[in-house]
Amino acid sequence: MTLDLLPLINVIAREGRIEEELFLTTFLWEEGKHVDFFQRFLGAIGVGTADLRSYQTPAYEKVFYEILPERLHSLHDDPSPANMVRASTTYNLAVEGIMAESGYNTYFTIIDGHKILPGARKGISLIKLDESRHIAYGIFLISRLIAENPGLFSIVEEVMAEMLEYAKDITEQSYGQFPDNPFGYPPSVFIEYTVLQYTKRMARISKARGQSLDEIYKDTRKVIEDEDS
Ligand SMILES: [Fe+2]
Repeated sequence: MTLDLLPLINVIAREGRIEEELFLTTFLWEEGKHVDFFQRFLGAIGVGTADLRSYQTPAYEKVFYEILPERLHSLHDDPSPANMVRASTTYNLAVEGIMAESGYNTYFTIIDGHKILPGARKGISLIKLDESRHIAYGIFLISRLIAENPGLFSIVEEVMAEMLEYAKDITEQSYGQFPDNPFGYPPSVFIEYTVLQYTKRMARISKARGQSLDEIYKDTRKVIEDEDS
């Protein structure tokens, strides 16, 4: 994520949106911290130098090695609003808003259900806080772009429907690697949560279709003030 984010920051900076650029710089640091956390966690459980790529499923590889980097890096050549909506929907709404949130839910369900790994739970709950700010920025950015051009909403619908299928495939394929189901939860529990995240994000972003730019900024300010209070 750290590497794929740079093209988005670059476009926002080139457009002279200094406030958004400043906010986005926190993303880079936070995504870097997340890498450090997981590296430390893997080190602590003794697999810090192991090659874990064989656990990455075909759907996971398609999303993280192809779709996500391609869509973000295409912003270098095509910084149009349509391409920004495509990139940010993929990154903030789908990969962070559906996939990462589903991943945290899986961690918490297993950790809480089996009363294990309290340190990992704390770390992941802090990462989740960072991620909620990243998702909130994506909602703001996409809403801003849709308010200026409502026709772009169809790109959100298309990308979200596509990414929901990849999210479900990732869960199913990951489960397929462990046929004896070591933690005792059926994959359907996690897939239901994934679908719920998709529904929530779509409901939230649909609001932007009828809103003016002023209303988007007002709503965003209110979210920030509520968080501060
Ligand atoms: Fe993030």
